[in-house]
Amino acid sequence: MSKPRLYSGMQPSADSLQIGNYIGALMQWRDLQESYEAFFSVVDLHALTQPSNPADLRAKTRRTAAQYIAAGIEPSRSTLYVQSHVRAHAELAWILSTITGFGEASRMTQFKDKSARYGADATSVGLFTYPVLMAADILLYQTDIVPVGDDQKQHVELTRDLAERFNSRYGEAFTVPMPVIQKDTARIYDLQNPAAKMSKSAESDAGVLWLLDDPAVSAKKVMRAVTDSDGTVRYDRENKPGVSNLLVIYAALTGRQMPAIEDEYAGRGYGDFKKGLADVVVEEFGPVRARALELLDDPAELDRVLAANAERADEVADATLADVYDKIGLLRRL
Ligand code: AMP
Ligand code: TRP
Repeated sequence: MSKPRLYSGMQPSADSLQIGNYIGALMQWRDLQESYEAFFSVVDLHALTQPSNPADLRAKTRRTAAQYIAAGIEPSRSTLYVQSHVRAHAELAWILSTITGFGEASRMTQFKDKSARYGADATSVGLFTYPVLMAADILLYQTDIVPVGDDQKQHVELTRDLAERFNSRYGEAFTVPMPVIQKDTARIYDLQNPAAKMSKSAESDAGVLWLLDDPAVSAKKVMRAVTDSDGTVRYDRENKPGVSNLLVIYAALTGRQMPAIEDEYAGRGYGDFKKGLADVVVEEFGPVRARALELLDDPAELDRVLAANAERADEVADATLADVYDKIGLLRRL
């Protein structure tokens, strides 16, 4: 029996991932790759919708791939590749754009938010068709499940609609994928501003734990995290957002239950608790960082791994694309 297929990806939009990406995405990907035939991409074509310079984009693409591997995505088991290495993505995106309604695409909230923020003149057509490219990513691989954050759910719903539309107009070409939304408990907030999601684009660096930070720097950031004046280590998202966030990180990284951690630190101060968490963070990320840096030290080898994986992706993607071209009536080249 073949395993069901899984697809996910992240944009290479920073030099380092932050621990929200690690806990909210990579840890789950790592676990899921056991029971699924998984495809993970570094979506560099999507990243072109944000301004960047060429050398930076190239570096961030390698760095993101290296962090996937360092976090436990195994390129010999899962197909881990760079989106632009597989030509079929851009080609299928064009086909899908011809069956996507203008109104339908205009209703995507991420597009509405971003275009409202940047203004029409600074908003590219690429930003508008971003979800269509994402649909192409997913549909090329006959994907069954797509693990993503809540903010991407609408894009996966669009992907389902496009798959169903194509299948009913032209014949079954696509598996209709299901979104798998990450658990609420996997959401990590900014250490300095626990009302905001931890993000690569945070205002202050002090609130973000970077995967590639020096462990001593991460430990310091934990020690300086915002808490409250109540003094008890207890999960209460509403009234104690700072402490609750630290507890979530602690539980996620150790696999321990929240009450057990609360018990361990009962009657002890935040200083002790933070020291404990700092140790956990250093222990978890020390080896991940070391492995990522080692991979980045040998870019030629990393590029070879990515190329071999792109070849595997090509095979699946080309078969889907050929079927789509045929079904939609493009004349086959001899
Ligand atoms: P992004 O960096 O926003 O493109 O997100 C890439 C992946 O990491 C997505 O699956 C997000 O849902 C996840 N992610 C990003 N930030 C966080 C966070 N603060 N907490 C949990 N998951 C996150
Ligand atoms: N748009 C996704 C994000 O910003 C990244 C992405 C691109 C993706 N293609 C995908 C995620 C396909 C899942 C499946 O997080």
